[in-house]
Amino acid sequence: MTVPLLDLVAQYRSIKDEVLSAVMAVIERQSFIMGAEVGQLEDAVARLSRTKHAIGCASGTDALMLPLKALDLQPGDEVITTPFTFFATAGAIHNAGGTPVFVDIDAATFNIAPAAVEAAVTPRTRAIVAVHLFGQMAAMEDLLPIAQQHGLALIEDAAQSIGARRRVDGSWRVAGELGTVGTLSFFPSKNLGAYGDGGMMVTQDDALAERLRRLRLHGGSKQYFHDEVGFNSRLDTLHAAVLLAKLPHLADWSAARARHAARYTEAFSGHPAICPPRTDPANEHIFNQYTIRVPRRDELQAHLKARGIGNSIYYPLSLHLQPCFAHLGYAKGSLPVSEAATEQVVSLPVYPELTEAQQQTVIDAVRGFYA
Ligand SMILES: Cc1ncc(COP(=O)(O)O)c(C=O)c1O
Repeated sequence: MTVPLLDLVAQYRSIKDEVLSAVMAVIERQSFIMGAEVGQLEDAVARLSRTKHAIGCASGTDALMLPLKALDLQPGDEVITTPFTFFATAGAIHNAGGTPVFVDIDAATFNIAPAAVEAAVTPRTRAIVAVHLFGQMAAMEDLLPIAQQHGLALIEDAAQSIGARRRVDGSWRVAGELGTVGTLSFFPSKNLGAYGDGGMMVTQDDALAERLRRLRLHGGSKQYFHDEVGFNSRLDTLHAAVLLAKLPHLADWSAARARHAARYTEAFSGHPAICPPRTDPANEHIFNQYTIRVPRRDELQAHLKARGIGNSIYYPLSLHLQPCFAHLGYAKGSLPVSEAATEQVVSLPVYPELTEAQQQTVIDAVRGFYA
């Protein structure tokens, strides 16, 4: 039995009628740019994220880049972030004119370590970009006071964590609810995926929301009048229609991912070689990825591949060691927790439609490799 890392065809089959009628409605109206579905999705995502505003844009990368642009960074301005994330997190900082400052992660959750953030603050620091990696939130209760104390923006990269929750000061808070801005990706592999690229920014801040709405539309609040130079970064109406059709299923899909994760963790726990991912007890994890740590990782990967079992290494090279950031001067060994993770992690299939038999095949193959 082969098991893909992700089976979008299975998902499509389960919602085909709903998606096709939503898409056809847009096509019938020929309303492709900023059509009604964009606003409807923005309202729905704002409700989900418990924010006053949600602003669609062209990708999760742009969702990061636009709020960073809104900071009007000057050369030498620093933005503290994690090196253990998808490249876009740091690429957006660079492209917005900032200097990424990488700090190490927490070994248990793979998320940015607040103490390391605090230690990295300098007079040039303007913002923190915390990533809610793999589906669980970073320690917002520790990051918020650091941001407040130093007057920094706190950007939540929630590309992998739409709707994830964390208990902060005794109550559940949603990814994107507490930071200056939260950023979402609708890349097809995300828990809520479009049929192409798409993204969204969520915020409680009225003035920032207005600025972001301008920045995504060439910097003008009125067509052909430009207050500043912005971008063409809209969410297509067709994608918004697909996402609106999918959104009612998101909670069930994320719950199914969490159930699969629990089953893996039960099967792997106590194993001398396989280290299952740890969910911070304060978090409700939505498992965009189920990522284990193992010895002889590359051999395991080859073993799984030979058996037709999809898997992937998120991420094989820590961002502080990427060639494009060599000028920043980070040495190998400077962020050891992140670097160790890049050598040990492998992500297994955890998509909602995964069957019990498929999952058993994955479990047997992983355990079998270390038998
Ligand atoms: C953590 C993280 N940040 C940013 C992005 C960028 O999103 P997109 O691919 O939609 O541009 C992604 C995903 O691809 C991501 O996983």
